[in-house]
Amino acid sequence: MKEKIESILEEIKTFQADSKDQAEEFRLHLLSKKGKISLLFEEFRTVPVELKKEMGQRLNELRDKAQARLDEFKQRFEEQEDSSSGQSDLTLPGDDSLPGTRHPLNIIKKQITEIFSKIGFSVADGPEIEDDWHNFSALNFAPNHPARDMQDTFFITPDIALRTHTSSVQVRLMESQAPPLRAIMPGRVYRNEAISARAHCFFHQVEGLYVDKGVSFADLKQCMLYFAREMFGEKTEIRLRPSYFPFTEPSAEMDISCNFCEGKGCNICKHSGWVEILGCGMVDPQVLENCKIDSRIYSGFAFGMGIERITMLRYQVKDLRLFSENDMRFLSQFRSAL
Ligand code: DAH
Repeated sequence: MKEKIESILEEIKTFQADSKDQAEEFRLHLLSKKGKISLLFEEFRTVPVELKKEMGQRLNELRDKAQARLDEFKQRFEEQEDSSSGQSDLTLPGDDSLPGTRHPLNIIKKQITEIFSKIGFSVADGPEIEDDWHNFSALNFAPNHPARDMQDTFFITPDIALRTHTSSVQVRLMESQAPPLRAIMPGRVYRNEAISARAHCFFHQVEGLYVDKGVSFADLKQCMLYFAREMFGEKTEIRLRPSYFPFTEPSAEMDISCNFCEGKGCNICKHSGWVEILGCGMVDPQVLENCKIDSRIYSGFAFGMGIERITMLRYQVKDLRLFSENDMRFLSQFRSAL
């Protein structure tokens, strides 16, 4: 039995396990029920009494050594598994991550801002939650004007609403700064509308305001022609149609010549050759007075346009909802745009 123990001790020392399977082999070979060490324990019963003590000790030592060696193997493979799953190979090439794209509305907003900044317009900002005075009253909206109806406007309290247009920022600007004023005011606006391909409960506008001594309708027209040509191409023509807004007098709606069919008539211009893009007019003297600007000394013009509308025309987008759905198939098409 002594020799057998010696030879197994040698095996334990020299056994090399290179994998979990080999460690299991080691266990089966020595420590399992039919393993060599277990068989020795069975044989131990036949050992003469005077040798039992010594052999018993040796056998126990042998079993402990085999078990320790097995534990060593197990630990090594567990550590290897941990490190191979937890640590990355720093020599591997990096993952490609898709670069982000500007939102089409932001591309157009940026272009509008750049066009107007070239002729001296700065950018102003105002709150989206607005009071009655800035959104309606100061802009001459009559108390019974339909825009003041719950059906058209999201009211928070009877006096506070989500702004329905960026014209509210005109008022804030005129109240807080003395003329000359020349600014555009881009921002989000809200209306209580059913969502469809052509309408949404929120959208974006850019407001423009120019107040100084001697500002005339001719200045407005020239400024709008400059904008239209910068935005839609140098061949673009404009047309001003008389209109009504409570805060401008006279007021107009501006069309541009259809740059899809060049005036021949298509679906976009509904075969008229013209596409409406904005509202404008001379700031009503009463609005200047509401903002404590002397209307005998100063005059001004204002305009307001929907960014969605301009973007749809520029990129031929047919459904307004695409702008707020975060669909990558739509958004990634603007990858090459600035
Ligand atoms: N606030 C108007 C709207 O939301 C747009 C507008 C029209 C703005 C004429 C103006 C303007 O400044 O002069 O429909």
